[in-house]
Amino acid sequence: MLDLFGIDVTTEKRTNGVYYTTGNPFGNVAFARWANTAGLPKTSILEPFAGANLLITSLKDMGLCNRADSFDIAPAHADVKLRDTLTDFPKGYDVCITNPPWLAKNSATRRGLAFPATSYDDLYKFALSKCINHCAYVAALVPESFIRARLFQERMSDFVSLTGNMFIDTDNPVGLALFAPDITPEVQVWRNSKKLGTLSKLESYRPRAKSRNNVRFNDPDGNVGFIAIDNTREASIRFCDPKELGDYEVRGTCRSITKIFVDAPIRIEEWNRFIDNFRQQTADVLLTSFKGLRKDGLYRRRADWDFARGVISHV
Ligand SMILES: C[S@@+](CC[C@H](N)C(=O)[O-])C[C@H]1O[C@@H](n2cnc3c(N)ncnc32)[C@H](O)[C@@H]1O
Repeated sequence: MLDLFGIDVTTEKRTNGVYYTTGNPFGNVAFARWANTAGLPKTSILEPFAGANLLITSLKDMGLCNRADSFDIAPAHADVKLRDTLTDFPKGYDVCITNPPWLAKNSATRRGLAFPATSYDDLYKFALSKCINHCAYVAALVPESFIRARLFQERMSDFVSLTGNMFIDTDNPVGLALFAPDITPEVQVWRNSKKLGTLSKLESYRPRAKSRNNVRFNDPDGNVGFIAIDNTREASIRFCDPKELGDYEVRGTCRSITKIFVDAPIRIEEWNRFIDNFRQQTADVLLTSFKGLRKDGLYRRRADWDFARGVISHV
């Protein structure tokens, strides 16, 4: 079966991580500043994984690109030259703007797809390492979860968590990572054009568990209920009275709705207030996303057991 761009959805699309950026990710303050420092529109731009050249088209529409050289292993636009840039990365460019191919190594292995010999666990990290090693300024679209990967942070100046649909064929939350030529003192984190704070500040809001021993997850006789995922309407991760879960069957592998046994004072209201505050302070960028958008237009999120433990020992 072929997608809108004529790409085989079953193999070629997955192996090459082909998800074209149909939205415009550049209409935000952090990118405008970065582009100015990088000398756009005068400096020539490298797009090493260009596909249908949609990013360059967006930049031209904004008056930010006078000259670009675009490459792809499967060009889908007349201005894109055929080149395997993962093995033969173009040299001599100061500014690189791209959305590299995304493919998790475990997914490639499961599906029997080719994956380069690298220690990176996703193709986009491998591709990004090439961009950063060869170019002074790099702007790359990456999964929002990259912000928690602690990778290439020395040169990252800004990370913009983007809302609004950037792709038509995947609803993964996406971020725009902006890199500078030199070591940066801090990473500024944004939600679109709203500054959320430095990454270290946001991380300091994350609750840390003091002990691992006083909470037992997936206990059918637990004294607290835990709803670890948002519903499809709104932010709804919370602790609750286990009676609320009624006869809900608690399995050992449960990761979404469960009962837990807490060997400490039970403070459901305070814990939930802490979760709400944390979500406000961090705009959810430190929580993993879960299956697409809610009705309020934001991504559904999931909380893991470490987070739950942290909240319980924090309050
Ligand atoms: C996520 S798509 C993004 C395309 C484009 N940057 C955009 O934002 O619309 C990634 C692109 O990387 C290309 N690609 C994958 N492996 C490549 C390789 N080894 N060399 C060059 N391009 C590659 C794919 O063909 C695909 O067009």
